[in-house]
Amino acid sequence: MKTHKIIIFVFILLTSKANLAYSNDVASAFRCSKLVPNITPCAPTRELQVSYPQGNFVYLGKMLTPAETVKAPGIEFIANSSKYYTLIMVDPDIPIPSNTTPSEFRHWIIGNIPGDDIYSAETLADYISPMPVPGSEAHRYTFLVYEQKGYIKFKEPKLKAIPSPARFVPIQKFVDKYDLGCPLFGNYFRSAL
Ligand SMILES: *[C@@H]1O[C@H](CO)[C@@H](O)[C@H](O)[C@H]1NC(C)=O
Repeated sequence: MKTHKIIIFVFILLTSKANLAYSNDVASAFRCSKLVPNITPCAPTRELQVSYPQGNFVYLGKMLTPAETVKAPGIEFIANSSKYYTLIMVDPDIPIPSNTTPSEFRHWIIGNIPGDDIYSAETLADYISPMPVPGSEAHRYTFLVYEQKGYIKFKEPKLKAIPSPARFVPIQKFVDKYDLGCPLFGNYFRSAL
């Protein structure tokens, strides 16, 4: 009986430590890579699962080639089905990472995602695949998911899959405009040509 209790205790200890390390990984990766504060003042604490075809998963700075990321990826996160979420994908390294001018490129924005069903949501900016400048350092392609306070009537021009000036606006302006708060889920990959 005693051994039994100790085993359960050790199990709980190990699993809670594992969960803690897990969430710290996402937040500290966002800080170490300077994504906090470059694009968001607060770090997401949970991993956003982002998977491109042929088993190319996004994982905290892992390199993926532009060829592996041509089509919009699948997105998964632990959602509350009675809430709405916003997904943003952004490149803060436009045109090149060492350029100190604060500049961002909005690759993909989906709002009013009911639970984690991105196919029943409102696409505000169509997916544009990574286009790092050849020979420059790797860019940080970053995905963030925010929980909305409710359904949002977005007042935005719908952005087609072509670069336009409206895509070169820091995402925090969008986040503040719609009161999205801090991102809950995040992930990013690096890519270079
Ligand atoms: C999901 O959201 C609803 C509405 O905000 C809330 O009442 C409920 O407690 C949430 N469920 C979970 C599991 O967090």
